Amino acid sequence: MDSFELNKIMGAVLGTCLFVLSLSIVTGGIFASHPPLKAGYEIAVKDEKAGTQQAAAEPQVPLENLLNEANPEKGASVARQCVACHDFAKGGANKVGPGLYNVLNSDVGTHAGFNYSNAMKNKKGKWTFEELDKFLENPSKVVPGTSMTFLGIRRATDRAAVIVYLSKQADNPVPLPKPVAVSAPEKKDGEQKAAPPTAPAEKKDAPAKQ
Ligand code: HEC
Repeated sequence: MDSFELNKIMGAVLGTCLFVLSLSIVTGGIFASHPPLKAGYEIAVKDEKAGTQQAAAEPQVPLENLLNEANPEKGASVARQCVACHDFAKGGANKVGPGLYNVLNSDVGTHAGFNYSNAMKNKKGKWTFEELDKFLENPSKVVPGTSMTFLGIRRATDRAAVIVYLSKQADNPVPLPKPVAVSAPEKKDGEQKAAPPTAPAEKKDAPAKQ
């Protein structure tokens, strides 16, 4: 083998190396591997958050309607969160919290024999459907300093259900407020609801005005 042949072989080897190297540089640019922005896998789970987002969108349904649409069985099951501290039965004992029989439309903080916090004593007013709804959503926000250490019920539909349940635990159940008329598009979408009713009305009005 003369040196010329050796050179050819070396040249071929080097050339191949160079080609492979440049190929890897080029493909590296094309198939660049980016480190993930967030480490680990994202697992899509429908959890409570989905529920709260829904709940946040819910207030557009008026409380009156939620109450009328409430499922009584749901109410009884939501009320299980309260029984550690409250008795719902007639003549039920005061526990951690006061007995809640006849609570609807009763004066706030007046259940016989219960030692209310000053915050509750000072709240005044009556436990109307609306007040109960606000209170049960976030007790310590509505009555700052209350001794009811309960985080609250996030879902408006759950609150409505338990309030209906509460309203039934009474000698003379307070009738539910009448549902409010809500047009169909309003229920579904908050953004688009205004457009359809006004647009045709304008068209109808236009010839009359001219
Ligand atoms: C950890 C115990 C606890 C839980 C759970 C609890 N409460 Fe209470 N609740 C209390 C206490 C204590 C008070 C009295 C608050 C005060 O004096 O500030 C109270 C007060 C109330 C009042 C005012 C009663 C009145 O006579 O003015 C209502 C209504 C009420 N609770 C409803 C509920 C409902 C409905 C639930 C379940 C969804 C619930 N609570 C869960 C402890 C609890």
